[in-house]
Amino acid sequence: MYRQVFVLAVSAAVLCAFTPPASCARHFNYRPIIGILAQENLDDDTHAQGSSYIAASYVKHLESAGARVVPIRINQTEEEYVKLFNSINGLLLPGGNVDIEKSQFTRLAKIFYDLAIKANDASDYFPIWGTCQGFQQLTVLTSNKNLLTLTDTKAVTLPLTFSPGSPNSRLFKRFPKDLLQSLAEENITSNFHSWSLSLQNYSGNAKLKRFYRVLTTNTDGKTDFISTMEAYRYPFYAVQWHPEKSPFEWIEKAGMVHTLSAIKAAFYTAHIFISEAMKNHHRFPSQSEEEKALIYNYQPIFNGLNSIFMQNYYFD
Ligand SMILES: *[C@@H]1O[C@H](CO)[C@@H](O)[C@H](O)[C@H]1NC(C)=O
Ligand SMILES: *[C@@H]1O[C@H](CO)[C@@H](O)[C@H](O)[C@H]1NC(C)=O
Ligand SMILES: *[C@@H]1O[C@H](CO)[C@@H](O)[C@H](O)[C@H]1NC(C)=O
Repeated sequence: MYRQVFVLAVSAAVLCAFTPPASCARHFNYRPIIGILAQENLDDDTHAQGSSYIAASYVKHLESAGARVVPIRINQTEEEYVKLFNSINGLLLPGGNVDIEKSQFTRLAKIFYDLAIKANDASDYFPIWGTCQGFQQLTVLTSNKNLLTLTDTKAVTLPLTFSPGSPNSRLFKRFPKDLLQSLAEENITSNFHSWSLSLQNYSGNAKLKRFYRVLTTNTDGKTDFISTMEAYRYPFYAVQWHPEKSPFEWIEKAGMVHTLSAIKAAFYTAHIFISEAMKNHHRFPSQSEEEKALIYNYQPIFNGLNSIFMQNYYFD
C-alpha cells in the first residue's frame, strides 16, 4: 500500500518535472465541457434555419471522448463570450466555409483566441482545437494575415508525412504505434479544403514559425502544405484534415474513409484534446446556467444522405 502510494507520487513528480508547469495540473476535471463555435449558414443549405449552424459530427466527435458540448452562438456581446469562456474547458473551431477574415465566426474566434492566450499565460490551462477551416482560422489569428495558398485538395484521402520527432509531440506521443503507422502508410485522412498553409509561407512568417511546430505535411503534387501542427507554448492543436468525418459523416463521395484505422485516428485526436481540457477547471456559475447552455437544449436536423453534413444544429 505504502509502496503504491510512493510510486504514484514519484511518477506524478517525474511527469511534472518533464512537462511545462501549466500542464501539470494536480487533479483532472472529469466533467469537461467544450465550446464549439457556430458559423454563418452555407448559402446552398436548403435545410438551414436561422442564421448559423454547427455540424453535429463535431459534437459527436467530442462526446465520443468523454466531453459535453456548449454551442457558442454568433451575434452575442463580448461580455457574454467572456462569461462563456470562464465556464468552458476548451474550444473547438470546426470546419466550414466562411470568410476567415470578416465573418462572425472569425469575430468569435478572435475573442476566444485572445482570452485563451491570456489565460494560458496566467497558468490557466485552456486548450484549443482547430479542424480544417479551424486550422486556417488559427493561422490567420496567429500571424494577423491570410497566408493561405490554393491547393488541389478537395475530396482526397492522404497518408500523413510525419516530421522528424513528431511521434514524440504532445499530440501524437500517446497514439498507439500501429495507429501512427497506419496514418503514415494508409490513405486515411479526409481532406476537403481548397486552401492550405504551404510549408513555404509558414517558414517565411516568423510569427507562425515561432508559434507552431509542424507535425505532419502533405502535398497536392505541387505544393507542400502543413496537415497537422501544435503550438510550442500553448495547448493549441490544428489539423487540416477531418478526423470527425470517418465515424460520423456518411455522404458517398471521394475523400470519405471509414476504415477501422481511420475511426481509431478520429478517437485518438478527440481523446488527446479532451485529456487536455480535463486540465482546465473553469465552470459555470451554477448548475442551472450549465443546464441552459448545453447543446442538449437543441435538436439537430437530418439533412439527408447526400448532404456533406448528415445533421446540423441551427441557431437564430
Ligand atoms: C447574425 O449575424 C448574421 C451574419 O452576420 C446575420 O446575417 C444575421 O442577421 C444576424 N442576426 C441577428 C439576429 O442579428
Ligand atoms: C493516396 O495518397 C497518395 C499520396 O501518397 C495520393 O497520391 C493518392 O491520390 C491517394 N489516393 C486517394 C484515393 O485519395
Ligand atoms: C504563399 O505561398 C505561395 C506559394 O506557395 C506564394 O505564391 C505566395 O506569394 C505566398 N504568400 C506570401 C504572403 O508569402
